[in-house]
Amino acid sequence: MTTVLIDTDPGIDDALALLLAWGSPGVEVEAITTVAGNVAVERGTTNVFRLLALRRPQPPPTVAVGAAGPLARPLQTAARYHGEDGLGDLDDWPPVILAPASQGAAALIAETTRRLGERLTLVALGPLTNLALALAAGGAALAGIGRIVVMGGAVDVPGNVTPAAEFNMHVDPEAAARVFSADLPIDLVPLDATRQATLARADLEAALAKTPGPLASRIAAFTRRAFRLDGGTMYLHDPLAVAAAADPTLVEWEEARLEIGADGATRRAAGASNCRVARRVDRARFLATFLERLCPGSS
Ligand code: BDR
Ligand code: CA
Repeated sequence: MTTVLIDTDPGIDDALALLLAWGSPGVEVEAITTVAGNVAVERGTTNVFRLLALRRPQPPPTVAVGAAGPLARPLQTAARYHGEDGLGDLDDWPPVILAPASQGAAALIAETTRRLGERLTLVALGPLTNLALALAAGGAALAGIGRIVVMGGAVDVPGNVTPAAEFNMHVDPEAAARVFSADLPIDLVPLDATRQATLARADLEAALAKTPGPLASRIAAFTRRAFRLDGGTMYLHDPLAVAAAADPTLVEWEEARLEIGADGATRRAAGASNCRVARRVDRARFLATFLERLCPGSS
């Protein structure tokens, strides 16, 4: 069993990643922390509660609200891609009651790490602000953690925001720099890997048709915007990170030393390794697993 805390900024692909985690028999989602990124943190938190109400995972995870913006610069969102509300701007989500924990994301990350130690895998699907704040609050906040799987960066491929930088790293490079210099067991899932994880709209529709119902209809609806903008396919950036957290053999890993540039570029550097980087993806196995677990029949 892999016990995970998911730090996220939902986000269409973040939503798919949460659904994948909840549908994965070997994964227990202990907690979810939200962070400003694709949308403002309030919107991302609302989206977590929308998805919880829709999917009703048991037991329900603890949810904590995180940073409202990057450590040292204004927030740059990706609302153009994900929609103003982060989930494709559908106008018929049922209203939800937000019930986050009283402690904030950084405190929950530190507390969960202390409690579970090496049994905990932290999966970071947005800017690394909450992780950096956890480190800032207490030097050893993440010491002893089992694994930190980070979706972000563009190592040997072009970025998706600037020629060299990927969105999550670009939004808060100061946070990323702190996390990468903290001597942590980081497994990075960068664009080099996630650009192999493409999903065709027809394949998603065929899978959803096997388990029709409210969950299938809602997934089809909130992904529509991404497929339209990406020409009928979308990148499963965040779902690949969740899948690699649950089953590291889905990708090939390379030990590397990376440093974070001022714009969020993830640059190779000389010296001892500070992370493993996901390289080649077993796309067929990943996609089959993703489509099988996204929308189980009983929901
Ligand atoms: C990352 O940026 C966000 O828009 C996605 O949710 C993903 O985490 C991809 O660059
Ligand atoms: Ca994300």
